[in-house]
Amino acid sequence: MSKNKLAKFADLNTFGHVIQLSYRKLLDEGFSFKGRWNSDFFKNDRPIVLELGCGKGEYTVGLAKLFTDKNFVGIDIKGSRMWSGAKEALSDGLLNCGFVRTNIELLTHFFAPGEVAEIWITFPDPQMKRVNKRLTSVRFLTSYCEILNANGLIHLKTDSDFLYQYTLATIAINKFPVQVNTADLYGDGLADDILGIKTYYEQQWLDRGKTIKYLKYIPHLNDLKEPEVEIAFDDYRSFGRSSTLLDNP
Ligand SMILES: C[S@@+](CC[C@H](N)C(=O)[O-])C[C@H]1O[C@@H](n2cnc3c(N)ncnc32)[C@H](O)[C@@H]1O
Repeated sequence: MSKNKLAKFADLNTFGHVIQLSYRKLLDEGFSFKGRWNSDFFKNDRPIVLELGCGKGEYTVGLAKLFTDKNFVGIDIKGSRMWSGAKEALSDGLLNCGFVRTNIELLTHFFAPGEVAEIWITFPDPQMKRVNKRLTSVRFLTSYCEILNANGLIHLKTDSDFLYQYTLATIAINKFPVQVNTADLYGDGLADDILGIKTYYEQQWLDRGKTIKYLKYIPHLNDLKEPEVEIAFDDYRSFGRSSTLLDNP
């Protein structure tokens, strides 16, 4: 492990707004802020917004700066990436911003039913070969719906046409209300202060000439179904994603 990474991990351990908990401790003792994020962590009653797979936390920090009337929590398994956002939040004195280093599969251990108002999913691996690993699949939607409040929102920003088409099919078969749908966020002129925030991965896709897709929708738990559709795989390999997918550069 690089010295730089070790230094970042050491930093993270000292950050009061970063939560890291071993799986064993989580199972044995539970998570003390679950159901108490507002009262015990943020110490206010404002809506809680999550960024899943936050990487360097551009949305978590960017939105926290734009919306001081909401609370933001970035979630990622990789501490060295999360360090960037956590450090910026600390330097900028953002009190409405926290991070949890964990697996997204464990979300319901960290948030109580109805505790969350919105979920951002920013440039996830499309997981073209594994439905249950896709962050917009029924498997994940089930846990999102558990922690989202009534009319809680999902925002998906992606470069992947595969994930965009898959998510549209999931929305259609489950009849989720859609608030925004664009296959070309910047081309359609929809990028405002919120949607114009660019993540690390997003910038790399833009530099490669990829269009950015965005969906904003309201999921529900009613008889959730996986769509049975054939979707063409993306014809490019993703940055930092599985090299077993495709070999085209
Ligand atoms: C392609 S990167 C995107 C990062 C960031 N959102 C961006 O746009 O720059 C995907 C991120 O999701 C995280 N991730 C993937 N699967 C995860 C999981 N099951 N639990 C927690 N984090 C996960 C990875 O560590 C990585 O930082």
